[in-house]
Amino acid sequence: MAVHIRSALQTLPTYVPGRSVPGAIKLASNELSFPTLPVVAQAIADAVVDESAGINRYPDNGAQALVDALARHTGAPATHVLAGCGSVALCQQLVQATAETGDEVLFGWRSFEMYPIVTQITGATPVRVPVTDSHEIDLPAIADAITPATRLIFICTPNNPTGTAVRRGELESFLDRVPDDVLVTIDEAYSEFDDADESPDGLDYALTRPNVVTLRTMSKAYGLAGARVGYAVAEPSVIAAMRKVALTFALSSLAQAAALAALAAKDEYAPRWRQVIAERERVTAALREAGYEVPTSRANFVWLPLRERAAEFAAHTEQHKVIVRAFADASGGVRVSIGAPAENDAFLAAARSFPR
Ligand SMILES: Cc1ncc(COP(=O)(O)O)c(C=O)c1O
Repeated sequence: MAVHIRSALQTLPTYVPGRSVPGAIKLASNELSFPTLPVVAQAIADAVVDESAGINRYPDNGAQALVDALARHTGAPATHVLAGCGSVALCQQLVQATAETGDEVLFGWRSFEMYPIVTQITGATPVRVPVTDSHEIDLPAIADAITPATRLIFICTPNNPTGTAVRRGELESFLDRVPDDVLVTIDEAYSEFDDADESPDGLDYALTRPNVVTLRTMSKAYGLAGARVGYAVAEPSVIAAMRKVALTFALSSLAQAAALAALAAKDEYAPRWRQVIAERERVTAALREAGYEVPTSRANFVWLPLRERAAEFAAHTEQHKVIVRAFADASGGVRVSIGAPAENDAFLAAARSFPR
């Protein structure tokens, strides 16, 4: 007889990571293509052999030095900041802290693939609210979908994978409609690439509204996807609840050292973000010129709503040694991360030769 496994897992979607194919250009995981800053690499190497906190010791469970640095970085009091093992861990902590079987977690769809997974892991019910015809998170429709069972709402802006960002005024109207006992997570994994004047800054709400938490990550803009560092900013009571469900020592000492060094060198990242934004605009224009529909992206990727042709398109670019991320279902499409200019050129050449 097989061991008992929770029935909730039977319908749990499995997360499909972007693929790496040796010798091919990977534009599938929204990573930064730039090399790691030498000061960050050195900080990791130093942390391995640190006399009092080397790799033979457990890390600081509260990551206090990093939390203090993040507090300075965001302007939030340290009491309002929590660091975690990537912001995906913080997403899971938020569900675990707020929802259980029978409760509902709302989010736009399509959005970050992990939202339904972390929701179902806890036994709660994911509620997917379709994006608009222009691939934007439909805030009024999400507000309409709130029921007495709603515990948590994820608003991803810029949205992964459609790239679109919500606007400040519409976010405020939405937040005004959310009951005080429902937590809203503004997931800003890509905010450093969002240069639109009308885009909101989640910190403004996380620091003024007790039912709003903002998530950010060092994985994308700071090129630390492999180190696993994300952070949350919220009311201390929300932070305390998230801390209770955190996996002990999940944020390694090497990750903490890497993030501290990256924050100390943050001025060196801005030119990289500017290049990503410029390349994003170039890739968008070239794709539109080639006849593709491309929603305006505020992130470090673009979205091609190719629907049933998504898998075929991804197979085609793979033949040209460019790996993109296909979501091959009814709300599907292809997400293409912005890489170095030559990588983007290789992708554009493949896209132009796709038979249509
Ligand atoms: C919207 C969004 N949130 C959170 C994450 C998680 O990032 P990490 O766990 O690397 O911090 C991602 C990663 O792809 C994302 O796209």
